[in-house]
Amino acid sequence: MTERIGILGGTFNPIHNGHIKLALEFIERLGLDRLLLIPVWTPPHKSADGMLPADLRLEMCRLAASAYPKIEVSSIEIERGGTSYTVDTLKELKKLYPEARLFLITGSDMFLTLDKWKDFKAIAEMADLCACARHGGEYSKLKQFALKLEKEYGARCHIEDFPVVDLSSTDVRERLKNMHSAKGLVPDEVLKFIEDKGLYRDKPGSDRSNLMDSGSYEEKLSYFRDILKRRLSEKRFIHSLEVSKEAEFLAKKFGADVKKAEFAGLVHDIEKETPKDVQLQTIEKYSIILDDVERSAPKLLHAISGAAVLQYEHKITDTEILNAVRYHTTARAGMSLLEKIIYLADYISADRDYDGVDELRRTVHSSLEKGLDVCLRFSIEELLKKGAPIHLDTVRARNELILARKDSE
Ligand SMILES: [Fe+2]
Ligand SMILES: [Fe+2]
Repeated sequence: MTERIGILGGTFNPIHNGHIKLALEFIERLGLDRLLLIPVWTPPHKSADGMLPADLRLEMCRLAASAYPKIEVSSIEIERGGTSYTVDTLKELKKLYPEARLFLITGSDMFLTLDKWKDFKAIAEMADLCACARHGGEYSKLKQFALKLEKEYGARCHIEDFPVVDLSSTDVRERLKNMHSAKGLVPDEVLKFIEDKGLYRDKPGSDRSNLMDSGSYEEKLSYFRDILKRRLSEKRFIHSLEVSKEAEFLAKKFGADVKKAEFAGLVHDIEKETPKDVQLQTIEKYSIILDDVERSAPKLLHAISGAAVLQYEHKITDTEILNAVRYHTTARAGMSLLEKIIYLADYISADRDYDGVDELRRTVHSSLEKGLDVCLRFSIEELLKKGAPIHLDTVRARNELILARKDSE
């Protein structure tokens, strides 16, 4: 028997329950053996209207499809790259499934434009064309248009009228952006993925970011603890708490602002586990220019995107805190006391357990300068061993220390 395969393309940014319901209804009504969700490719690092990179949208589709044996996900458009033309996709599918009958499912708006699509004649030859009306009036309009396509192009059309879920990916993104729950709108596994990765997260103007203007210090700390707990692995979350504690201790000991140290320590790795592509999107969105070394070393990115997320998305305005996050991986010449404290607390927090950490703790506790000396040397030696490039800020921080020592000799 001829296999019947449905094709449902889209940006799926993100996939939601409306897509799934539509897929399941068409599987049922058209007697499909399987239905392929095909996310379109979009240029990487382009953040137009919050478009996520293709690999993340693909992963969300896979998670959503995992519960339905007849729904599968195809990455053919993503792998092909460039502008996704339906005619090319159908040609590829015809090669993959030469015996199958293909059913192209489109939204009702799109259906009415089908005859304008690139190489529509070939599309109509390769696939049956399917759409569902959103309301009674639309049904007759779609039917009429289908008749025209059948007459003029010999197309095979299927117009359905089951109730569609009135939901768009834009609605879902809006809810997530404003820190509202999207439970029930997207499959649970997808929601967990979105929350774990901090996707479509709160932007300026959201209810909770107003906290930055009006909330108490304790409220701010607990707000960020919540965010970090969702966004980081348990290990990284504990690390953040420990760096915060160590920074608080060092601030008390060396006369820095204790609250700022506690806060900067807590949030310093806020972007550490955010996917690299999303970090690059953030960096591009806020017009931050990366140098060659930063571009080649993904490890350095989280400090840069972290400071940007704190400044632009969480409205942190304290430049001392922002710089402490910004330079916690590379250090730099002319570091403030707070910057030194966060840089060093990251090396010696209680969760760190490497050879020599106890001795380094004693060194840092006796003198920040001596601690810096050891850490910068250690960092540079490690990079030399690996044959990796050394960031100029690190070199400059080290030179500054050496020259200051020479001056005092
Ligand atoms: Fe870090
Ligand atoms: Fe860290």
